Amino acid sequence: QELQMNLEQIEKGGYEHFMLKEIHEQPKAITDTYRGRLLRNEAIIKMAGVEDNMKKFLNANRIIIVACGTSWHAGLVAEYIFEELARIPVEVEYASEFRYRNPIIGENDVVIAISQSGETADTLAAIKLAKSKGAFVFGVCNVVGSSIAREAHAGAYTHAGPEIGVASTKAFTTQITILTLMALRLARAKGTISSSDFRQHLLELELIPNKVEQALKSDAHIKMIADIYKDSRNCLYLGRGFNFPVALEGALKLKEISYIHAEGYPAAEMKHGPIALIDENMPIIVIATKKGHYEKVVSNIQEIKSRKGKIIGIVTEGDTQVRELADHVIEVPDTLESLSPLLTTIPLQLLSYHIAVLLGKNVDQPRNLAKSVTVE
Ligand code: G6P
Repeated sequence: QELQMNLEQIEKGGYEHFMLKEIHEQPKAITDTYRGRLLRNEAIIKMAGVEDNMKKFLNANRIIIVACGTSWHAGLVAEYIFEELARIPVEVEYASEFRYRNPIIGENDVVIAISQSGETADTLAAIKLAKSKGAFVFGVCNVVGSSIAREAHAGAYTHAGPEIGVASTKAFTTQITILTLMALRLARAKGTISSSDFRQHLLELELIPNKVEQALKSDAHIKMIADIYKDSRNCLYLGRGFNFPVALEGALKLKEISYIHAEGYPAAEMKHGPIALIDENMPIIVIATKKGHYEKVVSNIQEIKSRKGKIIGIVTEGDTQVRELADHVIEVPDTLESLSPLLTTIPLQLLSYHIAVLLGKNVDQPRNLAKSVTVE
């Protein structure tokens, strides 16, 4: 028993929980994901699985992404990135829905299955179905040799290292990293990105691990915010564009480990429902980084403020406008808009982590949840 305990302590590498360890591992995990693939000096991206099947990708009518849970959120971020950079239409589907609705799919479709474990039953069944209809299936998995990795025609591993905490953290950011590399590679092949833009993306992507490190420094500040809002019954997460899926993921993280009801919404959809819930007891986390739809998000924040909602803004370093309106701000470093989810996700992970710890919940093994769902 005691030996077991000690072993676990060693595995946690000095962190109180696996989740916290894995949150802090992200700079390294992201670096491991692009190592050997992002070759900045040569200004190329090398991914064998994509290279070998370039024709399939370039001839694709569309890309269909299938996944569950956090991996589905990574798929939604990828939808924005693929469409923006490579101009390929993307649909993102819950694997469980896709497999049971006789999907229209054929030889000119590319299916990307995203799965940390590579064992999720619905995702595995979805790719078997897609294969039977002649589609080309590309797997994005973390666990090497997993069922989905073996079933796919080709694929790329995220190389995030083992993820033990049930709530996914480093798997999510490394999935986004690999999907960004793919989108950039395809954009280059299709000529939908200029060579200077391409180079800038490579440069900025290489800076992300350091910027994640920066973002992690807000830990103590986030813990303080967690302490203020830990007893909330509900919580709303808002974002737009590339950061809309980050809002969904932030809400999922809070639900999973603290059991507080949380919803993620596209910021502009707020007025079609969630705004009715806003009062002085409702914390609202708004991703309001510079660029993109910044001014529009600022006006969403004003709408929340006039209804007395408590605003926690995730902002770009040096921001003044949101700081004036919000109850709290958490800064992340500036980057390209398409890469911003890799940074805005970090404070949301830490916020749910600290709330769950303060509430005394079992962070690494939340009730009713499993790390990999191998049954329907
Ligand atoms: C479970 C886990 C989630 C995960 C989802 C999909 O619900 O608790 O963290 O996102 O399955 O898992 P996968 O291994 O396919 O990414």
